[in-house]
Amino acid sequence: MTNHPTKKIGVLLSGRGSNFEALADSVAAGRIPGAEIAIVISNREDAQGLLRAAERRIPARVIPSKGIEREAYDQLVVAALREARVDLVCLAGFMRLLSPYFVAAFRGRILNIHPSLLPAFPGLEAQRQALDYGVKFSGCTVHFVDENLDAGPIVAQAIVPVEPGDTEEALAARILTEEHRIYTEAVRLVLSGKFRVENRRVLPTATAEENQEERLTERAKSR
Ligand code: GRF
Repeated sequence: MTNHPTKKIGVLLSGRGSNFEALADSVAAGRIPGAEIAIVISNREDAQGLLRAAERRIPARVIPSKGIEREAYDQLVVAALREARVDLVCLAGFMRLLSPYFVAAFRGRILNIHPSLLPAFPGLEAQRQALDYGVKFSGCTVHFVDENLDAGPIVAQAIVPVEPGDTEEALAARILTEEHRIYTEAVRLVLSGKFRVENRRVLPTATAEENQEERLTERAKSR
């Protein structure tokens, strides 16, 4: 067996941290082979996600963003990610726009999860936007991060129905279950390196045999 070096994930969050938790559980269960979460960084010291990191003994740092200019802040975060030798940055409810400096430092190596079917409803309160618009289906998207808001190439999406009596909370909860599932899938694909980006399209390059093998491994693990 070849010994591949561990791929290090850095998670950035500002709040609850359920997507971080889902990724951490997936790493622990071997659903993202050869990966570890090397560091969690929060811009808010009251982020619940920090407690979730502590419970799992995953190194976490608070880098407060208040009062610091965007690029100066991003320099601190990039330095911390580099220090932790991070290969892939996963934004998980990180409530800040990344500067071009940050995007260039980790180009093609930053993922974000957004609670709508992009390009519909980018920005804040995506679930509210979906309800207000009256769509019958919404969902979530994992995408590469580029200089524009919620706009980079799409790695994974999942659809959920919008039910007639839905509140924002009910729709958000339905979407969140799918977020946790597709974030793991997207991170696994990206860290495997078995994809290419053609124009905006993220295309898996694994052979049918590799896919079959992966499915069998997955099935064995879930027993
Ligand atoms: C999720 O809905 C995610 O799509 C959005 O922010 C929320 C974060 O939730 N970007 P959590 O902190 O991962 O629980």
